[in-house]
Amino acid sequence: MSLTLSPPLEARWEALLAGLARIADMHPDALLASSMGVEDTLLIHAVAQLPRPLGVFMLDTGRLHAETLAMVDVVRERYGIETRVMRPDAGAVRAHVAEHGEFAFYESVALRKACCGIRKVEPLRRVLAGRSAWLTGQRREQSLTRVELPETEWDETFGLQKFNPLAFWTADEVWAVVRALSVPYNPLHDRGYPSIGCEPCTRAVRPGEDPRAGRWWWEQRDSRECGLHAGNLRARAHPGVRPRGPLPTDTTETTTS
Ligand code: ADX
Ligand code: SF4
Repeated sequence: MSLTLSPPLEARWEALLAGLARIADMHPDALLASSMGVEDTLLIHAVAQLPRPLGVFMLDTGRLHAETLAMVDVVRERYGIETRVMRPDAGAVRAHVAEHGEFAFYESVALRKACCGIRKVEPLRRVLAGRSAWLTGQRREQSLTRVELPETEWDETFGLQKFNPLAFWTADEVWAVVRALSVPYNPLHDRGYPSIGCEPCTRAVRPGEDPRAGRWWWEQRDSRECGLHAGNLRARAHPGVRPRGPLPTDTTETTTS
């Protein structure tokens, strides 16, 4: 592949591909979680090149932007990858809405977490059941709750290995690779959304604002995790004790940050 990347970035990209290939060898049943944000489409571009493919899934909460849902077709057309779309239990959604209303998440953190629990966490638990590993597009730079994010960790919440291969990547690095390799990305990123979640819980940010300022913007900054990454909050409450799993790395390689 011809890259128009700087040598350090090209090295970082190659290291990412090699790391993903090792994950796929060790965990052929691993799944990549895609919210169809730019980190995730970059990872999809990378896994599409692996000799051993990895499955991709998206949690369709029923409240995603149309632009995000449309990325499922973009990924299929570009890479021939069929994203597994996970939906919440319809009865649980109906009961929650009947009891608390369509927009209860604005009322309290507890109701917001209950909504995330039904629409995201339960479907995530279902898709991960019986798997040995999953991958996410989280990065350290994204949030106060992610500053200690490791590249791999034991996910206590869901009971499997969790890989965050972009943990040490900056937004500039992600975008440089995306532009150089023409990786498709969610058009909301060009409309002021550096971080994309559910439509009613995400707003565009102003230049210079924190990239996650638009996520659950009405809440305190340090409560803004939805349950998919509960380990980030646990690690923040108990610094230095984050359970890490063995890295499937070649020991001659060093990690840059
Ligand atoms: S969130 O927990 O606050 O919503 P964020 O939007 O930063 O997370 O995304 C971090 C990573 O979590 C994504 O790169 C992706 O791996 C995973 N993720 C988040 N939302 C979804 C979703 N709707 N479907 C699948 N994976 C998701
Ligand atoms: Fe519900 Fe908002 Fe969580 Fe989406 S982000 S599941 S709409 S509370």
